[in-house]
Amino acid sequence: MKVGIDLIHFATADYYLGLDTFAAEKQIDVEKYTIGIGQEKMSIAPPDEDVVSLAAKAAAPILEQISREEISAILFATETGVDQSKSAGAFLHGLLGLSNRCRVVEFKHACYAGAAALQMATTMVRANPNENILVIAADIAKYDIDTSGEATQGCGAVAMLVTENPRIIAIEPGSGYYTNDVMDFWRPNHRTTALVDGKYSTKVYLNSLKHAWEHFTEQTKRNFNDIDYFCYHIPFTKMAEKAHKTLAKKVGVKLTQADFEKQTLPSQAYNRIIGNSYSASLFVGFISLLDNVRDNIEGKRVSFFSYGSGCVAEFFTGIMQTGYQSVLMTQQQQDNISQRKPLSYAAYLDFYHQADVNPDNIIYQKTNKGPYRLVGIEDYKRYYEKV
Ligand code: HMG
Repeated sequence: MKVGIDLIHFATADYYLGLDTFAAEKQIDVEKYTIGIGQEKMSIAPPDEDVVSLAAKAAAPILEQISREEISAILFATETGVDQSKSAGAFLHGLLGLSNRCRVVEFKHACYAGAAALQMATTMVRANPNENILVIAADIAKYDIDTSGEATQGCGAVAMLVTENPRIIAIEPGSGYYTNDVMDFWRPNHRTTALVDGKYSTKVYLNSLKHAWEHFTEQTKRNFNDIDYFCYHIPFTKMAEKAHKTLAKKVGVKLTQADFEKQTLPSQAYNRIIGNSYSASLFVGFISLLDNVRDNIEGKRVSFFSYGSGCVAEFFTGIMQTGYQSVLMTQQQQDNISQRKPLSYAAYLDFYHQADVNPDNIIYQKTNKGPYRLVGIEDYKRYYEKV
């Protein structure tokens, strides 16, 4: 039985901060960002955009292709949840007008939650092939001003429809995973920004990759040369580069520059200009591969390495399906990215500080240009609208 991603679409905010603008403001050589961490732009959410409006923007084109009555569950992965109790998926369910015969739950473990939700969805479909599950991975990456993390912000949401006989990729059974209780990145409940031990986090990421890989090969007997394209969690693209080189070295494969570029570069293109989108980032990378690889990759094996600080990691694979290109939404995604408006550093700071306060009552000015937005908060209750 084949189970996997039948449709996939991502959305990001309508604004970005260029790392050239950022570098000029901080009086730092821009190449530290463009070469050192491999990033050019960070998508910045305005105050009337949150993970719910981003998720609705990501999911809407999928819902044009399947009846709302047929969605049997929303598994919403985020570490930027909007309420400590009510799930972001419940807000999304209302905003999208889904059927009451649908289950909704929020998944959390840093950037890993998107992979966890996808794996849970495939298990549910294997148990009941009538399920059509909407998996959402959506986050807004935010660090304190003037910290090392500030250059690695960003935001995005990925919506995936998980079904039997998927048209894009069948997720293969068997995966390798690794958990270790470490403090490399965390966000205490009262904070809107994450705390991070940056350099340590990159070491834990690479160590987790090695452990998850060992478990993956034991479980599946697949090896490096069985995989055609590699997607990694991408906090910044240099991290994915380091990950791929670390993995190749571990398995004793001598990578040529051409191999490296073919296996990983198409999956980095979008992340380089969006920034970190935490739980969504791995799947933004997968969409980037689909939209930017030159060849037709039907029948090819794609790997996914998910890393969530704290930490949980998982390595798994899927097989690209015949005819997948006919259901991609490349143009919408490229338009969303290219139509973003640049922000000055002062305008970015204004958005940043407005989104920082969590008022009990507010009506937001309309700055989000997307199809769904957060209108305001009244007596601590959030209100959204379809524009
Ligand atoms: P930093 O202190 O700003 O930068 O921290 P740096 O001094 O280490 O420089 C970065 C690189 O740029 C170095 O290269 C420099 O040599 C180079 P490397 O040694 O790493 O190969 N460099 C230059 N290159 C060219 N021209 C120049 C130049 N100057 C310097 N002029 C750090 C960087 C990534 C630590 C920081 O941005 C940070 O703390 N980011 C946030 C944490 C993070 O993204 N960690 C990644 C792993 S953990 C993860 O992925 C999980 C996460 O997504 C959260 C979750 O799970 O929810 C974060």
